[in-house]
Amino acid sequence: MSKIGIIAIDGPAASGKSTLGKKLADALGYLFFDTGVMYRAITWLALDRGLDLADEAAITRLAEQADIDLRPPSQADGRSSDILADGEDITWDIRAPEVDANVSRVSAYPGVRRALGVQQRRIGLRGKVVMVGRDVGTVVLPEAQLKIYLDASVEERASRRYQELTDRGEPADYGEILSAMQRRDFIDSNRAVAPLRPAEDAILLNSDALDAEEVLAEVIHMVKDPDGTV
Ligand code: DC
Repeated sequence: MSKIGIIAIDGPAASGKSTLGKKLADALGYLFFDTGVMYRAITWLALDRGLDLADEAAITRLAEQADIDLRPPSQADGRSSDILADGEDITWDIRAPEVDANVSRVSAYPGVRRALGVQQRRIGLRGKVVMVGRDVGTVVLPEAQLKIYLDASVEERASRRYQELTDRGEPADYGEILSAMQRRDFIDSNRAVAPLRPAEDAILLNSDALDAEEVLAEVIHMVKDPDGTV
């Protein structure tokens, strides 16, 4: 039985964190928790309600009061869980380009981070969890026994996102995806609170030349006890 009960995976957009996190959690029988989903759900709710995204107090109140829930997948359409906001299934709505374009702004608000971070930490401390995000190893769960920082070039990440969208039959423009991703990387890495960066004790992995199975194999190797068990 592995002594690693809390695993943090951080890194920029589309670096393969969620794919790795889901596969790793399945292999270990752990809970998979993608924290980005919570920031996306708040952004979607704010847009849906027509709130002014510049109104930090209103967006913070929304994050403090919204009922966001993650449940086991109810449909086999590629989702790893159902995402519900006030009871409504918003699993795919939160992947819309309008959410992509605004989520970094919403997630830079300290009050939003505080409200969501408290919930993330409470769930993470129960253990047997693979938590994925930007600041899991640095802020949410600094006590994680294994911290991975998964990176890839912005061009590679943009082309993965392009592929994901076209696979789902959605319209996609590579140039637009690339510049939106560069913009998001910049905001995520330069915000005052909990910017995207590797924890000092994180293991850095670059997935440019590795496919999902190869990344998983490397991480499973790290999780194994010296006697070879996981
Ligand atoms: O991983 P993602 O692309 O779904 O994340 C969406 C946004 O949420 C990302 O641009 C930054 C923010 N985020 C964050 O600030 N902290 C986290 N732990 C996870 C995501």
